[in-house]
Amino acid sequence: MSNWMLGAVLTIGILFSSACREEEMTPCSIQDKRLVDGVDFYCGNVVDLNRMGANLDYARIVNTQFNSVTAENIMKPAFLHPSENLFHWTEADQLADYCASHSKRLHGHTLIWHQQLPPWMLNFRGDQTAWENMMREHIFQIVNHFKGKVSSWDVVNEAFNDDGTLRNSIWKKNLGSSYLEKAFQYAHEADPAAKLFYNDYSLVINPVKRKAVLSFLNSLKAKGVPIDGIGLQMHLFNGFPENVEISNAIDEVWKNDYLVHISELDISINPFSQALDKAPQEELVRQAEKYLYIFKTYDRIHASYKFGITIWGVGDRDSWIRYFYNRADFPLLFDDNYQPKRAYCKLIADL
Ligand code: G3I
Repeated sequence: MSNWMLGAVLTIGILFSSACREEEMTPCSIQDKRLVDGVDFYCGNVVDLNRMGANLDYARIVNTQFNSVTAENIMKPAFLHPSENLFHWTEADQLADYCASHSKRLHGHTLIWHQQLPPWMLNFRGDQTAWENMMREHIFQIVNHFKGKVSSWDVVNEAFNDDGTLRNSIWKKNLGSSYLEKAFQYAHEADPAAKLFYNDYSLVINPVKRKAVLSFLNSLKAKGVPIDGIGLQMHLFNGFPENVEISNAIDEVWKNDYLVHISELDISINPFSQALDKAPQEELVRQAEKYLYIFKTYDRIHASYKFGITIWGVGDRDSWIRYFYNRADFPLLFDDNYQPKRAYCKLIADL
């Protein structure tokens, strides 16, 4: 082999191996600086105590990086209220104890929804008064049980359709549209100190739905119904929605005098369900930029409107997107091995 050829082979080899390293390299390590240190608002995640016990890296991330916690499933009606006369507190109490002993805020998710309802609730029969009593008991018992431990609640979740009409849930069918104001009132009676939220998806990408929700909630607030804030779920994609739509939605919510909770943030990189065995580097770069844009955009609103940003999962392997849509996806700040992704590193470096 000539010197020239040897040089070329070596150069290609070096380039190739550094490209591989670039692709495989963890872009930063979990720093002494925490994610929450870069911002003046709460930074949260959904926390699963079983995963914490099973994986030290998961536990380290949750312990060090976040100061707010939401339960992904164990505080939903099907888990907390499995039979009409039975409440099941064990796992949620453990989570509340963890939060208290680790100085983390606990956000309650969710009291009234059309999904993850226990069968007895779905099959409940009775007149309007019976339904009102049942809903009041459900809300009152739960909020009262966690009084002083849960500082805020998603009182009603996903009550609107995409066209801005009210979803025909069991609550709407049996109580009419007044179930929303009643739900907020019952929660407030049980814990007057708790911040109360309406939480929904597509409020960023769908201005029709957003305007309908705002106008409905404004009319309740005008009657004195205690609604403190709106949760913008934000299950987003790298390329969609445009950044300007995100900032417009955030602005519209605080300008209507609601606390803004970015309540379920994740950024999918595989909207068309391609067969991927790992995340393409260029998508991870775009994802990092989008996360940073959202954090910076949120950070610039007035402090009195910032309730916080909650990421919906710790490592990519934990994401609901994988099992719900049965697709490979990498939407979170940490990878399958709980190592930092570019998005985490960019937030740590640039916030
Ligand atoms: O608990 C059962 C278990 O007993 C059973 O063996 C297993 C078999 O499938 O299912 C378990 O239930 C799963 C549950 O999560 C708890 O792990 C359900 O199948 C699964 O569908 C459910 O998914 C949750 C989903 O809400 C339900 O709609 C996701 O984890 C959770 O991330 C997701 O969260 C929602 C928010 O609450 C509201 N906004 C949208 C967001 C994403 O869908």
